[in-house]
Amino acid sequence: MTLDDLATLRQEAERSLERVHDLESLQAWDRDVIGAKGSLTAFLRGLGKASPEDRPALGRAANDVKTALVTAFDARKAELQSAALDARLATDAVDVTLPGRKPTIGVDHPVSQMIRELSDIFALMGFQTAFGPEVETGHYNFDLLNIPSDHPARDVWDTMIVDTPNSEIVLRTHTSPMQARVMEKTTPPVRVIVPGRVYRYEAQDASHEWMFHQLEGLAVDERITLADLKGVLREMARQLFGPNRRIRFRCDFFPFVEPGVDFAVDCMICNGAGCRVCKQTGWLEMGGAGMVHPSVLEGVGYDSEKYTGFAFGLGIDRIVMQRYGINDVRAFAGNDLRFLQQFAVASR
Ligand code: DAH
Repeated sequence: MTLDDLATLRQEAERSLERVHDLESLQAWDRDVIGAKGSLTAFLRGLGKASPEDRPALGRAANDVKTALVTAFDARKAELQSAALDARLATDAVDVTLPGRKPTIGVDHPVSQMIRELSDIFALMGFQTAFGPEVETGHYNFDLLNIPSDHPARDVWDTMIVDTPNSEIVLRTHTSPMQARVMEKTTPPVRVIVPGRVYRYEAQDASHEWMFHQLEGLAVDERITLADLKGVLREMARQLFGPNRRIRFRCDFFPFVEPGVDFAVDCMICNGAGCRVCKQTGWLEMGGAGMVHPSVLEGVGYDSEKYTGFAFGLGIDRIVMQRYGINDVRAFAGNDLRFLQQFAVASR
């Protein structure tokens, strides 16, 4: 046990530390040299056997060696740890400068946007918005609307029938059945609009879908006249298409109104002069309307001598098509995101 032995021990320990290239072998080195059973620890323990004259110098030197080796160990450990971290970062590399992935936020369908807009417009005129069933009974879809089973008008609505054994169940062909449903639950005055899907068994083309959207309107009270109907529709047209819009009524027949009309708004593009949007007619066809037929009022138990009312039904899809210049109604239910995403801006 000499200073030379100590110097050799130190040299060997330092050399083998140089050969350590990972944390695992560093641990082994720790165990072999400075750990409880390491060579340096054994040397320190053996000091008791050294001669009393040599002991102090040997002890000091051994402690110096220990300090040096522990320091070298710590430095090597830090080095290896940071190298290990670098390696992990290099393999799991994330480029934090890349733009984040945009979450896809849903937007309202353009038809839904229009329904909301129309609800707002009619709310200002005192109309509530109601929604009704899309699967309807023949009773509401036809009978209460003055369209009895043998009435030829029943053929006009090419109806999709739900296959049921006893009762007549249909996909509603119009929003009009809600007229009776609302009146049955209300004592006049009634002021309601009913937007929603309707179904007809129809060949599809650019302007026909077997599912489309209507908005029904109904007002019943004492002394309601055709002038009220015209005023309400004109106001709707002004709110939708801008000031100075005019409304045109022409005679038409619907079994549940008397008199019945079709109504149109003068074209907001050409102010009625004729253009591509209105197909040179100057008018945009909106739907049907009229004064609620006395039989319809009586059918829900209203006194038709006391109450009168107007009703109208308009096509929502066509209004949206005109507003955005959409030339194919099939785009609405086609589920093409490129089409739908164009309306993201409009709804925010
Ligand atoms: N329900 C009719 C249709 O689908 C439209 C309609 C016409 C509704 C006249 C009405 C009305 O309320 O008064 O063709």
